[in-house]
Amino acid sequence: MDTIYSSTVTAPVNIATMKYWGKRDVDLNLPTNSSISVTLSQDDLRTVTTASASAIFEEDKLWLNGKEENISASKRMTTLFRELKALRAKVEADSKAAGKPLVPLSGYPLHIVSENNFPTAAGLASSAAGYAAFVSSIAKLYELPQSAEELSILARQGSGSACRSLFGGFVAWEMGERADGSDSKAVEIAPMGHWPEMQAVILVVSADKKDTPSTSGMQQTVKTSDLFKYRVNEVCPKRFVDMKKAILDKDFAQFAQLTMIDSNQFHACCLDSYPPIFYLNDTSRAAIRVVEEINRVANKTIAAYTFDAGPNAVIYYLKEDENLVLGPLKSALSHVEGWEKRPNVQTFNVPEFDQRWFETLGRGVSKVICTKVGPGPQDSDISLINKKTGEPLV
Ligand code: DP6
Repeated sequence: MDTIYSSTVTAPVNIATMKYWGKRDVDLNLPTNSSISVTLSQDDLRTVTTASASAIFEEDKLWLNGKEENISASKRMTTLFRELKALRAKVEADSKAAGKPLVPLSGYPLHIVSENNFPTAAGLASSAAGYAAFVSSIAKLYELPQSAEELSILARQGSGSACRSLFGGFVAWEMGERADGSDSKAVEIAPMGHWPEMQAVILVVSADKKDTPSTSGMQQTVKTSDLFKYRVNEVCPKRFVDMKKAILDKDFAQFAQLTMIDSNQFHACCLDSYPPIFYLNDTSRAAIRVVEEINRVANKTIAAYTFDAGPNAVIYYLKEDENLVLGPLKSALSHVEGWEKRPNVQTFNVPEFDQRWFETLGRGVSKVICTKVGPGPQDSDISLINKKTGEPLV
């Protein structure tokens, strides 16, 4: 009667190479365009979430990075709790009909404890990993039969980009057509094993809370930007097809080119919003220039930058080009932490590089995170909950 049932899952961060920006339905988080992302390794960035249910709990509770959140204030959260419990109730009804009744967890309050190993809301896609871990851990606790695609529809309602964290490797979020959102889901383009050479380095520019939250920023863009209409109607449908093809063909130069122009257009739409939204700063622009310098000196597109709703740069490259991409970055940033993960990389600087951008970059980056493509949510044996009290373990 006083048993505490619990399950733990870890979920990854994903960084879009074709951006989601704009909602056609704000309540359901239905996007105005399809998007594409690469899932990053959980060795470097992840959310761990333990979901537990017990008859002794008084109410649903959620702790995020050690702090209790007010669930009832979040419509997104209350919807997810309700929908996940309804799915469990169905499983219980079926088990009863089959003569093997399951524990009636759907009637018990939930305690959820979630921890990120990176700063929340610093433009490092913490909500994506967070909601993916939330949905996956409860689905595991409830033994839900739903597929990752079906669970992605739930995660999407928490945070749009979270749906893509239900898969590893290379992922598409198909915008869908239906008004109820039942076809707006994430699908796998290719697993990580398809292109395991894909690496990413994140230049952490600012770990502060971001300026305009993406949810309100998007609405501002949808309402006011003319460029955004052109993007959604004329650019995105073709780019979505082209980028999927570049991934399936493992054509890095094409993938990189599309990734960079898509990031640029997203930030141009932000600037075209009124009042304008700025996520990039001088350090971000220096990162763009440094990537251009790296590609120019290599005489080949070997690195691609992309920026989300914040100033941090994410740079994609292939393992075979590691020294040519990370070497110049390390020459500008040897004083910051994060290089210990890539101990063999030698600093590399040549007179052909325009040094101005390297100096600006060196002043504005506080840390690098060297990572690579990774898998989707993983089951875990650890528990963030005290199995006797149901309170978070500190
Ligand atoms: C710039 O998924 O955080 O990172 O659905 O309102 O929670 P909500 O927005 P969110 O937006 C992410 C925007 C982006 C681009 C992307 O990840 O595709």
